[in-house]
Amino acid sequence: MGFFQRCVARSLLQGQRGLCSSAPGPERPRPLGPGSGRPYSAGIPGIQERTLVAVKPDGVQRRLIGDVIKRFERRGFKLVGMKLLKANEGILAEHYHELRRKPFYPALIHYMTSGPVVAMVWEGYNVVKTSRTMVGDTDSAEAKPGTIRGDFSIHISRNIVHASDSVETAQREINLWFHSSELVDWDCCDYCNTYQL
Ligand code: TYD
Repeated sequence: MGFFQRCVARSLLQGQRGLCSSAPGPERPRPLGPGSGRPYSAGIPGIQERTLVAVKPDGVQRRLIGDVIKRFERRGFKLVGMKLLKANEGILAEHYHELRRKPFYPALIHYMTSGPVVAMVWEGYNVVKTSRTMVGDTDSAEAKPGTIRGDFSIHISRNIVHASDSVETAQREINLWFHSSELVDWDCCDYCNTYQL
């Protein structure tokens, strides 16, 4: 058993014995953890919500990838997928299909194909809503300080980052940008410090 498995097993054992939380663990219909094909997080309600976050070409050019990742890590979310790619018009046309009749659409596609993007899938409790709050208003000029857009950008056309706006949209966008084989199910070894197990 490697270090992380030992750490996860210890955290889970502590949680079940009440050392990490005052409440007992939930009923588990099927085995969880290493060897079962299901991570321990599958037994904690709500914490497997996922969202798509992408650092847009302006964020990559300005070397802000690390700053974006750092905020999601520090908040407590778990990275389950990540890749650097030059998005083609096909994927962007699907991604932004609701905006296709907007006057800014051609400029948006031109900008989004101008350089690489970093697409990521983050997982955790309420991650869709919380990500939108962390990212800030679509219009950078209105985005509050402390948000990613409010700290790093000043104009709506170069707003650094994308985050899905609903759980349903997140599912669609994750399926669009990632193959299921590119997403990694894994357990954080410190769940009892992030959630009440
Ligand atoms: P939208 O999906 O409305 O916002 P968000 O990214 O916050 O979900 O718009 C997609 C992107 O289109 C937005 O991030 C920046 C760009 N955009 C413009 O360039 N001009 C505009 O007037 C709007 C509304 C969006």
